[in-house]
Amino acid sequence: MASTMLSLASASPCASLSMPENHKGKMKVGSFEFSTVLGKERRNPFLKAKSSGRITMAVAVNVSRFEGITMAPPDPILGVSEAFRKDANEMKLNLGVGAYRTEELQPYVLNVVKKAENLMLERGENKEYLPIEGLAAFNKVTAELLFGADNPLIQQQRVATVQGLSGTGSLRLAAALIERYFPGAKVLISSPTWGNHKNIFNDAGVPWSEYRYYDPKTVGLDFDGMILDIKAAPEGSFILLHGCAHNPTGIDPTPEQWEKIADVIQQKNHIPFFDVAYQGFASGSLDADASSVRSFAARGLELLVAQSYSKNLGLYAERIGAINVVCSSSDAATRVKSQLKRLARPMYSNPPIHGAKIVANVVGDPSLFNEWKEEMQLMAGRIKSVRQILFDSLSAKDKSGKDWSFILKQIGMFSFTGLNKAQSDNMTNKWHVYMTKDGRISLAGLSAAKCEYLADSIIDSYHNVK
Ligand SMILES: Cc1ncc(COP(=O)(O)O)c(C=O)c1O
Repeated sequence: MASTMLSLASASPCASLSMPENHKGKMKVGSFEFSTVLGKERRNPFLKAKSSGRITMAVAVNVSRFEGITMAPPDPILGVSEAFRKDANEMKLNLGVGAYRTEELQPYVLNVVKKAENLMLERGENKEYLPIEGLAAFNKVTAELLFGADNPLIQQQRVATVQGLSGTGSLRLAAALIERYFPGAKVLISSPTWGNHKNIFNDAGVPWSEYRYYDPKTVGLDFDGMILDIKAAPEGSFILLHGCAHNPTGIDPTPEQWEKIADVIQQKNHIPFFDVAYQGFASGSLDADASSVRSFAARGLELLVAQSYSKNLGLYAERIGAINVVCSSSDAATRVKSQLKRLARPMYSNPPIHGAKIVANVVGDPSLFNEWKEEMQLMAGRIKSVRQILFDSLSAKDKSGKDWSFILKQIGMFSFTGLNKAQSDNMTNKWHVYMTKDGRISLAGLSAAKCEYLADSIIDSYHNVK
């Protein structure tokens, strides 16, 4: 199709536009306006036109208004799955994203989730909007699951619970609350931490800095460094803590260490902010995995807890979680909740219903709840068993005398291998093992059958790449 190319004399940022043939009317390109009338055009004198044969009304301007927008880098975690999908090698292994797989390396929908969904269908439930704070039945059970149903906090109505868009959305809502009501307050995050934490606080405009957490020499917790950094933070800082199964390291403080962390936080008048994305996945027990949060709350501390059901109920795509703010009075909790709702309304208006109903049905029904606990133990058990097999393979194959026992000490979905970026690149480029560049592997994506292959790839990368 013949077309007329118009270019702006003063190449201002402008749109690349085309118009249908025989278009009639006025058109605006940047600050320039011109009219088109049945094959002829009346041009703004600032516009130069090149004609090639019959004028067809197709107008294109070769500089986009979005010219200034550069290409964003792929997400360091979700980008790994994209690269994995493109790899045709049959030995490929995706240990990037923290999503549970069966022994056949297939995604898993929990039986209790299917049962809860069937219940919803049988009841013919509707899809009306939820209130801004989410489903009341969900908010009730999620706080009970976290703090324990008989926790006095709940009877005293001192917890402001708002359903969030999974763990990420709940953290983001809390970040918005901090930005609005604690201007200038700093959030301290562990070094290293889950990749999205920094994005969340950056986007919310909340300043953050890091506290020491991982000690590469021991591939363990740098407890002294952590305590010193929390002590040194400005009084009244928010201290972001992974409630259990620290991501990416798989290293959690012991109960005694948690008490010392709480002591320092209390002395410095800081506010603990727990991220609980793996309740039940660390030990297989929902109660044991909530013990850090419960022990802090038992001290009477005010605190924040973001929850996610992505991993423990396998509801990744349903985006179901909550933000809980424990306050010193029910009056404060009511006010905090009202402000969380106010922040949520212009962001996403109200949360989705499907996942909330599933959680409410599973946690609120004693028989489904017990079934869930059994299924969770199976999932956590499978991860523990591949952890053991991987350790056994590494120890048997590696004759260098290196101690791989840190793999057994770590808990949860992940193992932090201690491999550096070049070594992690070798894992992917040579062995087709996809993982994040910080050396983290998700054991939830590993099968017993693949442990030997993985051990070979780790030994090669560790000893032959520096
Ligand atoms: C530490 C941590 N927090 C929060 C999340 C949030 O997950 P989601 O938004 O899927 O619930 C994750 C997910 O990987 C995580 O590892």
